[in-house]
Amino acid sequence: MQLTSEFQDPDGAQNRAPIDVVIMAAGKGTRMKSRLPKVLQPLAGRPLLHHVLDTARALQARQAVVITGHGAIEVEAACVINTRATAPLTINFARQEPQLGTGHAVQQAVPALADDGVVLVLSGDVPLTRPATLFHLIQACAGENLALLTLDMPDPTGYGRIVRSGDADSDLLAIVEHKDASPEQRAITEIYSGIMAVPATWLKRWLARLDNRNAQGEYYLTDIVRFAVADGVPVVAHRISDAVQVAGVNSPLQLAQLERAYQLQQAQSLMEDGVRLADPARFDVRGDLLCAQDVSIDVNCVFAGQVNLGEGVSIGANCFIANAVIEAGAVIHPYTHIDGENLGVTVGVRALIGPFARLRPGAQLGAEVHIGNFVEVKNSTMAKGSKANHLAYLGDASVGERVNFGAGSITANYDGANKHRTVIEDDVHVGSNCVLVAPITLGAGGTVGGGSTVTKDAPAGALTVARGKQVSIANWSRPQKATKAQ
Ligand code: UD1
Ligand code: CA
Repeated sequence: MQLTSEFQDPDGAQNRAPIDVVIMAAGKGTRMKSRLPKVLQPLAGRPLLHHVLDTARALQARQAVVITGHGAIEVEAACVINTRATAPLTINFARQEPQLGTGHAVQQAVPALADDGVVLVLSGDVPLTRPATLFHLIQACAGENLALLTLDMPDPTGYGRIVRSGDADSDLLAIVEHKDASPEQRAITEIYSGIMAVPATWLKRWLARLDNRNAQGEYYLTDIVRFAVADGVPVVAHRISDAVQVAGVNSPLQLAQLERAYQLQQAQSLMEDGVRLADPARFDVRGDLLCAQDVSIDVNCVFAGQVNLGEGVSIGANCFIANAVIEAGAVIHPYTHIDGENLGVTVGVRALIGPFARLRPGAQLGAEVHIGNFVEVKNSTMAKGSKANHLAYLGDASVGERVNFGAGSITANYDGANKHRTVIEDDVHVGSNCVLVAPITLGAGGTVGGGSTVTKDAPAGALTVARGKQVSIANWSRPQKATKAQ
């Protein structure tokens, strides 16, 4: 599920000026108190900056110019491995060293900006702006106006204020930064979100006129509003009411707040599609979760990477499920950990997994397979109806149909240097506490006696026992404790 899927560009990219997105990402992010550059802090499992790049993609931007400074090498490398890309996006970089303000940041992008474009200015630490909102902003720009995304904030402290000639719909005159604002201006609640759309030709002219004579000694991008007014270029505001869309991340607390906002959006959108979540506030998707009809998910589950849940699948409380396909009717009991990583995991129809099961990369379970508590399955196939219900390990194994794998039994798949396969044919019964030393094949219908350490192939249909013979010594007297000499 992608939150951007709602967005449709009615005009089509061909019928309007090309969009060049400039993403400011040079700031330090001091308040995160982290070694990781701020724009690489994860939201829903992905760097903040990737969310912004996705937005640029959804808008079919001609390019994104990422302004880097603090942690530039790391940030630029992270952009290149933005693997979730669904559509192509040309990404260019401009270094800003030192960082002298937002106007100075955008100045660094100028060589990359062609005159025929509309420039959309975004920040790498503002991840949840909807493409539809930005599309409206671009429409308001219409290739000739300066368009600002604004909103009313009950507490506008710290933000640039929108100064107008009169009431809320009157002409827009300037943006005044909080630190430069008069007490009257500080009373204004309409603020600049940090996002604007502006024709490239005008932007370049105005950027060349910026100075840093202000309270912070910075080159303010927001000063271009005054230049637009002076040049008779209309300044228009697209005013929204949803603060989450323009919320930036400056601290761990704000990051967590945006994470919850994002997760709630995902939860609501899944619930609108019929998914039954026990509690939308205790639910996390860090990737894409695709659900068929009548899926139910109990509290505190985390989904990561690509996860597909088939019709009627039920997920118990406190499960972690990543990179897996769970087929129709399967039940995942509480506290199950599934991570297919690069190989994936498949759970077949009506299979029962857990509680406390662990499925690792390459676990391919067929229909009606049962995996019980403290059972680990890695790089193994299990065909229809096979069971490993208690305390077992199946690694690098090919298991046929209707096999019963006893409690405490394991495949010894690793000889210290190489991994070897275990083949267990249909209808085999492996007793409890067996060690199957691979490579090995257990023939169809065979039985392995409990406690066996099996090192050679076991013939089909036979009972194979490989353990010390039981002996009993009659009248055995246990050793006595020696009495201490006086
Ligand atoms: C800016 C706006 C303010 C607006 C607010 C919204 C200016 C002068 N002010 O203020 O009107 O209300 O955003 O959040 O634009 N950055 C760089 N290089 C720099 C400075 C900043 O890349 O030299 C990046 C930051 O990393 C950040 C973004 O630009 O991602 C915004 O910078 P920030 O310092 O947060 O701007 P504000 O002072 O909050
Ligand atoms: Ca800010």
